[in-house]
Amino acid sequence: MPLNACSESPRAACPPADDEMPVAPAKALACRQEIISTLLAPRASISPKYFYDQRGSELFEAITRLPEYYPTRTEHALLQQHGHAIASAVGRGRVVIEPGAGNCAKGLALCRSLAATHFVGVDISLDYLRTAVLRMRQALPGLDARAVGGDITAGVQLPADIPRRRRLVFYPGSSIGNFDPPQAVALLAQMRALVLADGGLLVGIDLPKDRATLEAAYDDAAGVTAAFNRNALVHLNRLIGSDFKPQCWRHLAFFNAAASRIEMHLEARSAQCVRWPGGGRDFAAGERIHTENSYKHTLAAFDALLRRAGYASSQAWTDARGWFAMVHARA
Ligand code: AVJ
Repeated sequence: MPLNACSESPRAACPPADDEMPVAPAKALACRQEIISTLLAPRASISPKYFYDQRGSELFEAITRLPEYYPTRTEHALLQQHGHAIASAVGRGRVVIEPGAGNCAKGLALCRSLAATHFVGVDISLDYLRTAVLRMRQALPGLDARAVGGDITAGVQLPADIPRRRRLVFYPGSSIGNFDPPQAVALLAQMRALVLADGGLLVGIDLPKDRATLEAAYDDAAGVTAAFNRNALVHLNRLIGSDFKPQCWRHLAFFNAAASRIEMHLEARSAQCVRWPGGGRDFAAGERIHTENSYKHTLAAFDALLRRAGYASSQAWTDARGWFAMVHARA
């Protein structure tokens, strides 16, 4: 038996399911059903969007500062190094729309260098975003900055008074990597619809590189990524009333070269009986829940996705090591 903090006996009897459903509005109910159906699928999964509760957003910020996690710092250096070229390609006075804006640090830097007129941050973690947008207004008093709560994959509604011309969707951080190619094409097309004919997209992509560098970035020595991965279970416990024991799940991260993606999973250290109001699932020891894909596209592969999504042309800037790219595509 491996030594771990998981005290549950593998043969413990499963408690009966609690069938008292908490009262929930329609949206929460839909998300609850979505979560439960992915948990009950033959290969269980949790959408990576459920990483980002308050604690998850904090853990993600900690990840971006880890020595092993190169994407954030590489993208930052790239934006510094090629800032002028990017700004002249994109054009000044833009209406910047940032899905998954988080702490808005990158959005702030971009709005400053483009002399943007408006900024619309969109995030599912609305409280966190609001604080960031307030800081942004203080830093750039001339900027009309807004916070919009929402899930970009579900199609967000922007405030009616946001100008329709000169829009730019800014999607840094290689978050596009969370979507498999057909989903990425659909999302890129949705973003294109947001910016209309004279708009554009500025997107960060993480490029393929050696396995050791990739795997270390998603399985750091300090265990921050492991805590981030397990926190999805804590979040789910709150959202659907499940009784996942996070310490009973092992963090797994590996590069799937055939699909060109990092995969993260949670693997049951011992047999687990997970219950939630109205149902539950038993997991065998070693059974996994797939929590994230992080695709590493080549520039050529990503350009093909952009074309499929209807974009006209694209231009890319990369860092000296060729680890990360910023891509500008015209709608
Ligand atoms: C926010 C999706 C870009 O895939 O690198 C970091 C999330 N997961 N460590 C990434 C993440 C584990 C991150 N993205």
